[in-house]
Amino acid sequence: MCGIVGYIGKNPALPILFSGLERLEYRGYDSFGFCVLDDGKIDFLCKEKGKISDQCHIKNSESSGSIGIAHTRWATTGIVTKENAHPHFDCNQEFFVVHNGIIENYKEIKEKLLNEGHKFSSETDTEVLAHLIEKYFDGVLEDAVKKALKEVRGTYGLAVVSPKDPNKIVVARMSSPLLIGINGDEFIIASDPSAIITRTRQIIHLDDNEVAVLTPDNFIISKQEKENDCWKIADKKIETIEWNIEEAEKGGYKHFMLKEIMQEPATIEDAIRGRLYLEKGNAKLGGLEIVEDRLRNIDNIALIGCGTAYYAAKVAEYMIEEYAGISAEPDIGSEFRYRKSSFNKNTAGIFVSQSGETADTLAALREMKEKGLLTIGVTNVVGSNQARETDAGVYTRSGPEIAVASTKAFIGQLTTFALIAVYLGRQRDMALVMGNRIIEEISRLPELAREILDTKEEIKTIANKYINYRDFWFIGRKYNYPIALEGALKLKEVSYVHAEGTAGGELKHGPLALIDENCPTIAICSSDSVYEKMISNIEEVKARNGKVIAIATKGNEDIKKIVDDVIYIPKTLEMLTPILSVIPLHLFAYYFADALGRDIDKPKNLAKSVTVE
Ligand code: F6R
Repeated sequence: MCGIVGYIGKNPALPILFSGLERLEYRGYDSFGFCVLDDGKIDFLCKEKGKISDQCHIKNSESSGSIGIAHTRWATTGIVTKENAHPHFDCNQEFFVVHNGIIENYKEIKEKLLNEGHKFSSETDTEVLAHLIEKYFDGVLEDAVKKALKEVRGTYGLAVVSPKDPNKIVVARMSSPLLIGINGDEFIIASDPSAIITRTRQIIHLDDNEVAVLTPDNFIISKQEKENDCWKIADKKIETIEWNIEEAEKGGYKHFMLKEIMQEPATIEDAIRGRLYLEKGNAKLGGLEIVEDRLRNIDNIALIGCGTAYYAAKVAEYMIEEYAGISAEPDIGSEFRYRKSSFNKNTAGIFVSQSGETADTLAALREMKEKGLLTIGVTNVVGSNQARETDAGVYTRSGPEIAVASTKAFIGQLTTFALIAVYLGRQRDMALVMGNRIIEEISRLPELAREILDTKEEIKTIANKYINYRDFWFIGRKYNYPIALEGALKLKEVSYVHAEGTAGGELKHGPLALIDENCPTIAICSSDSVYEKMISNIEEVKARNGKVIAIATKGNEDIKKIVDDVIYIPKTLEMLTPILSVIPLHLFAYYFADALGRDIDKPKNLAKSVTVE
């Protein structure tokens, strides 16, 4: 989500760090910071709010130090402030850390460290690392880093420098990418190859549980062995990056949209990290703690969003009504104001938005606030207007979404809503076994999502087969009705081909008039409580010579007899199927649009964030 760059060599570090960060800005851009060492002293230290590209003067600052680390931030824990920008440091400003990832147990560690007398200057999870390193430092920086890492749970790609052990950078990785670029007598570390590609194409990827110590002349990578806790020198291969800059930013994918679809399993992982209470059959949602008691009395929820976010709200309607027993009503941000809604003091509004800046959603939020009702945000961008103005909320942690068409952010919203449904359900009548069952199944979702992505070439073949059609219908029922809407929106948005989504049951109330051999239907018919009814809808389409592509559950061979093409998704709980069934629809839209040569990441007439009503 955020970006890391580090430099150690013979040249001034600052300009190299600066241009590395500029190229990482697409990953996160709310604040940034640098720490450069020279001759055993801090030569340049700066943390700022805003975009690095607006601060070109920094590049020309007086700094000749040749060892440094830098970071561009996309806030997750702690709002956007100068203090929350990286590098983070200990009490005496002697240990500097830049970090990507999440330290899940930071609250416990922070409490312990506060009791031991440490003084904190930010709200971030990262800062505990700096204080732990301070606590364990005994002359050798890497030893202190290793000891600190033993105490933390979570994910990290991190880099540390210190004037107390000045001629080195220590880096470590756990589930958050980090690589070392090798360029003769200099080394550059980065979270992403795009940061270093103009300086070198020779790289080594760090793996999980590895720590590297880089000095001006050498580097050593060691790996912690699980069995005996010992560190052994790791034998690593140097790879050559073949990508150009643009390809590197896209992770080697042709478009950001494809990259972001491929990140969908990781998006689920990020949304649930540290939030699954397996033994309590519950979701741990820190952002709702302050309104926990008010939420207990809520008997009616308005769910507001626009576009894709509204479809997430519609899935949430089914989840919350079925599992929490609370009446829930989704609405489009722009329509909300025209309704004379009969809210009472036990009504809460949940506002869904990737950007947190969508004008219509914000207008609805402000209207609800004026009525004195409880407002909750399901937001991706930390510190956005929505995040700041709601009473409480849950961040979806999907990371920056660059493509205009929302894909991974939608997955993050659905996953977050599954957690909220369990949380509200467990506040009410949901049994422990039911909570356990859902939470366990949520923990399997990343693996199930990966299974779908593994079939992307088959989905591409199917998309290419239908490339000459100009009208599509999408149908689904219950949890997958909003997914039919999302599938149609995504297809029209990126391919400019006409597509509509309806509830399966609505077909015969009008749309059937348009179904013929020229209008294929994509039917989401997973093996669940509405399967038989979806089969009836498919038969209605087939009786009008319509072609059908089915999204079906793995193992269902019978469906092949009645439809033209099948895309399989793994079996999961019915309430969680939308999180899986939408993945092939995102891929279908992408490959379809790509075959037509569309400007996929920036579809015509559309903007990423709609800040006007
Ligand atoms: C569709 C899409 C839009 C957004 C909508 C709301 O792919 O991206 O429909 O979902 O504009 O945006 P946010 O979530 O930022 O409020």
